[in-house]
Formats: sequence, C-alpha cells, structure tokens
Amino acid sequence: PQRPRVFSGMQPTNASLHLGNYLGALREWARLQDDHDAVYCVVDLHAITAGHDPEQMLHRTRVTAAQYLAGGIDPDRSTLFVQSHVPEHTQLAWVLSCITGFGEAGRMTQFKDKSARSGTESTTVGLFTYPVLQAADILLYNTDRVPVGEDQRQHIELTRNLAGRFNSRFGDTFVLPEPYIPEATAKIYDLQDPTAKMSKSVAGSGLIELLESPKTIEKRIKSAVTDTGREVVVDAENKPGVTNLITILSAFGDRPVERIEQDFAGRGYGDLKKEVAAAVLDIVVPFQRRVHELLDDPAELDSVLARGAAKARDVAGPTLETVYRRVGF
Ligand code: ADP
Ligand code: NA
Repeated sequence: PQRPRVFSGMQPTNASLHLGNYLGALREWARLQDDHDAVYCVVDLHAITAGHDPEQMLHRTRVTAAQYLAGGIDPDRSTLFVQSHVPEHTQLAWVLSCITGFGEAGRMTQFKDKSARSGTESTTVGLFTYPVLQAADILLYNTDRVPVGEDQRQHIELTRNLAGRFNSRFGDTFVLPEPYIPEATAKIYDLQDPTAKMSKSVAGSGLIELLESPKTIEKRIKSAVTDTGREVVVDAENKPGVTNLITILSAFGDRPVERIEQDFAGRGYGDLKKEVAAAVLDIVVPFQRRVHELLDDPAELDSVLARGAAKARDVAGPTLETVYRRVGF
C-alpha cells in the first residue's frame, strides 16, 4: 500500500531556524520520512508577502535548504524543493482564489493579527491571499497530512473547504488533508519570557538560533529566566522557565521528563542549565558543521534543489493539468 503523503514548508525569512522550529518542525519532518512519502518545501513565495530584502533572498533560501538537509531531510527518499521553482503553485493559487470568498479569507485570524499590526496601507494583497497559496502548496501534492503548529489549524480548515468546494463544483480532484500534530512534538517558549512561544518575530536573548555561535547559545541558555524556588520539577503554571528548560533537555537528550526530575533531585537550576547547554550543543555543533559544508558548495546544493523541483513538478504538473481541464481551459 502507498504510504500517506505529508507536505510541509518553512519560510526563508531569517537565515537561521530557531530551537522551536527545530524541535517543533524539522526534527519531526525527518522522523516522518520513515513511514510517509514526504514533500518539504522552502516557501520563498510566502516570504515576500510582508516586505523582504532581495539581496538576501537567495542566500536565505540556500541556508534554509541546507538546514533541512542537515536536520536529516533526505532528498533521495523525500522531495525537497523551493516553492518558486515550481510555477504550478501560483497557477493553482489563482484558480483557488477564484473559489474563495472574500469574507471567508477575511476571517483568517493570522491575517487579522498581522494586518492590524502593520496597518491597511502597508498590508499587501499577497498577505491577504497567503492562505490560498498555502492551500495550493498542499493540494498540488494530494497531501494526506500537514504537520503544522496549532496556529495553522484555521488555514488547513480553509484548505479542506476549498478542496471540497472544488471537488463538488468541478468533479473529484483533490484529497482533503488533515492537520497533523504529533503527540510528542515539543512546544518551546522564549528563554527570557517563558510564557511566550519562542518565535523569530520576538528577537532578543530569549531566542536560540541554530546557527548562532556555540558560545552565544551557551550564554543565552545560562541566562535563561528561571523561577523562585529551587526544585527542578515540571510545573507549567508556576515554573514556566524551569519547565521549558526541562522540555528542551528532554527533547535534545532523549530523556523522559520524569527521569530528568529524578536525576536532578537535590540539585539546582545552575546544574540544569549546564546540562541543557551541553545537550543542545551536542546536536547543534555537528548540525552547524554540516550546514557550512553544504553552503561551501552552492552549485551542489542548487543541483539537489533542482532535482527536487523536477520531482515536485512530476506530481504538481499532472494535478494542475487536471484542474485546468476540469475548470474548462
Ligand atoms: P515563528 O513562530 O518563529 O514565526 P513559524 O511560524 O515560521 O515560526 O513556524 C515554522 C514551524 O516551526 C511551524 O511548524 C511551527 O509550528 C514550528 N514552531 C515555531 N515556533 C515554535 C515553537 N516555539 N515551539 C515549537 N514549534 C515551533
Ligand atoms: Na509564526
């Protein structure tokens, strides 16, 4: 039987992924390859919806792709490519935008939040139709599962609605994808404000970027905000800082939380931070080495991505052909 297909992507907005992206997405994507037909994309078209630096674009796309590879995405087993290399994404997005209600798109909370922050005049139409392009990304590949964070549920719901609507108007064409949030996926909080999700949009010393120097990473972990008290125990309500550090140690060191609590009985926060830093650097140092090797040979990296785009088009091309035929083109 065919393995279920997963599709996911991240924007090349920042050069470096952060700890949350790694534990919440990339590491999970690598694991999913074992029992899924995986399609992973660097979504550069999405990265120009809110202003960007053209000088940095290609570099950031390569660095993002290099991190996918260093994180274990295998371009032979899976399909790894850059969104703008496959024109079917924007072609399908146009068709889908013509069956999307204006009001329906206007209800997307991520758009409402982002546009409220930047104001109507500097909000682009591209940001408004972003979820429609995202629906096209997913539907082109007959995706069964989309590994995403909680904040993306509404976009996946829109994708399902559009797929269902297209199918009933024009004939059965698309698979309806499910959001997929693996049970074990860790949610990582900011080290300086452990009540807020770690995020690239909250730059500061509470953000741990994977490509930061090991010294800086260590320093940031050691100056993480902890809580009053001294016991190393999980208590999300009263000890969000310590709980976050335990989550990170558990994920990086493959050690269950209960074991960590036992191991730290009678020891303090200083020891905990030391072990967290060591466990993170154990993974991050070889990860960085691999990223730099890949970036040292951009021609080879580009050819991996070109092969990925060809593989992606083998699926996306026929999907778009069917769509155009059903629409009447
Ligand atoms: P950011 O919040 O930094 O803008 P994105 O929204 O681009 O990150 O998310 C990219 C991927 O990383 C998504 O799959 C998302 O669920 C995951 N992710 C982002 N931040 C975290 C976090 N703090 N903890 C766990 N996963 C995260
Ligand atoms: Na985000």
